[in-house]
Amino acid sequence: PRIIVLISGNGSNLQAIIDAINSKTLEAQIVLVVSNKNSAYGLTRATQAGIPTLTFPLKPYKDSGKTRIEYDIDLAKKIKEYEPNLIILAGWMHILSEEFLKWFENNIINLHPALPNQFDGADAIARAYEAFKKGEITKTGVMVHKVIPAVDKGEPLLIEEVPIFETDSLEDLETRIHTVEHRLIVQCAKKILDESNR
Ligand code: GRF
Repeated sequence: PRIIVLISGNGSNLQAIIDAINSKTLEAQIVLVVSNKNSAYGLTRATQAGIPTLTFPLKPYKDSGKTRIEYDIDLAKKIKEYEPNLIILAGWMHILSEEFLKWFENNIINLHPALPNQFDGADAIARAYEAFKKGEITKTGVMVHKVIPAVDKGEPLLIEEVPIFETDSLEDLETRIHTVEHRLIVQCAKKILDESNR
């Protein structure tokens, strides 16, 4: 099976997928890594692993008066050429419109570093930490969900709760959540590819 991973930053989840493929935990190949940011460290990780990369920033589109929809359609066309079985959004910080999503039916998943319907959008971990400090929540979590046009909504496929402790710094919580994410994203990719193989 052919996977494409979309990133915007560090790419530690991309690395978890690369490692799982190398150790044969996950039987698949990453055929392309796409970043909307030139500076994303995940691009270096991909290159080191011998994976082709595509840097596809929005800015040139904006500068030439093109719309986000045009960006989404061009991106979809480029990705489609690689014939992916699964597209994984791993820290991809760009909302994909229906114009993109319709090209790939149900085969797009996203990682969200919080429980369903909590802290949708950016900075979810920091917002959960603040909410904990205010006594509004006692725990947080990680989910992998199907991608639909509404941000961080879509049917959850895997959910895991993550505890927060009084003594936690924000960094402690981030580390705990990232560790769960790295395991869950691999587990979810495996589940989907196994199911589609049957
Ligand atoms: C992860 O916490 C992911 O859930 C969020 O962005 C972060 C990306 O981390 N959407 P990385 O680039 O995979 O290290």
